[in-house]
Amino acid sequence: MRVLLAGGAGYIGTHIAVALIDAGHEAVLLDDLSNTTAVAADRVTRITGTPVPLVVGDAADDAIVEAAFDEHGPFDAIVHLAAFKAVGESTRKPLEYYSNNLDTTFALARVGVARGIRSFVFSSTGTVYSDPADLPFTEESTTSIELSNPYSKSKRINEVVLADLARVHPALNVTVLRYFNPVGAHESGLIGEDPTGIPNNLMPFVSRVAVGTLDEIGVFGDDYETPDGTGLRDYIHVVDLAEGHVVALEQAQPGYAVYNLGTGRPVSVLELIAAFERAAGRELPVRILPRRPGDVAATYCDPGKAARDLGWTARLTIDDACRDSWNWQSKNPQGYATA
Ligand code: WQD
Repeated sequence: MRVLLAGGAGYIGTHIAVALIDAGHEAVLLDDLSNTTAVAADRVTRITGTPVPLVVGDAADDAIVEAAFDEHGPFDAIVHLAAFKAVGESTRKPLEYYSNNLDTTFALARVGVARGIRSFVFSSTGTVYSDPADLPFTEESTTSIELSNPYSKSKRINEVVLADLARVHPALNVTVLRYFNPVGAHESGLIGEDPTGIPNNLMPFVSRVAVGTLDEIGVFGDDYETPDGTGLRDYIHVVDLAEGHVVALEQAQPGYAVYNLGTGRPVSVLELIAAFERAAGRELPVRILPRRPGDVAATYCDPGKAARDLGWTARLTIDDACRDSWNWQSKNPQGYATA
């Protein structure tokens, strides 16, 4: 298969590119580099030994997407990862989030369908699930665009748009993959999570404290109704996540399908920190802070449908993820800027 990865030079996209090439497929990256760097694309070539083209441009621009097809097509599939994804930022910039996260889908779908792709894989999120009583979340659990932030709402609206697209293109496969919390890095330590500025997410924050570029870990609340009082999340190793995309592409059937990509094993903030201390071989400074507005006590999935339908199950653990995150961060203390 030849696959166009929109947003492909990012954290998850680069790992999918490596997994596709390792499985004997071809990958082309399309990215506006708003949240990554061309160094990440070069690293994919270094890991795989295969030249991976990078088209720099806005996936919301039909002309850019057409140019990617003209220069590097035809493509069997598009994987759409080109979105803004910071929950907190989305509450401050709703219009930017709705326009970017929907316009990219519209352009990629318009051009992709016109150019004959067989499959459109959409990067969605487990934050579309809205009722904690449904835990562990299955693909049939309640979703809502009322109880979450513009980022999650934009993802849910995308799913509705793509379901209607699939209805009028019966030969097209549309696969929605709802990610839980991606963490970790490729074993080479050449690619990894490199958020701009102060990380919002826990794992990159912890790894920067471990490498010394941040002072201490702030734990957002230890008074939740959870075993140790801190938030529970379903941390999935990004290599497992990437392999889930390869399997979904290889087994794509016409029609619309939704899969949770998670481990089904909830892990607390303090448990993740302890795992990272084991990986880094050092104690990390921690301070308990008030809860972060918008956080939920727990979110994790039932990954059974992907196991039954795709034969895919996450195999790496939180210790594997911390080991690999530490390997990436210690080799790249300034992320890709270390290059
Ligand atoms: C995890 C836990 C925090 C930072 C994110 C994205 C969301 C989705 C999934 C894409 C929570 C706690 C965090 C810190 C902390 N990604 N925490 N101190 O909020 O589950 O969701 O990943 O779809 O869009 O926002 O992840 O890593 O921010 O938080 O105590 O400095 O760690 O309270 O319990 P979250 P997170």
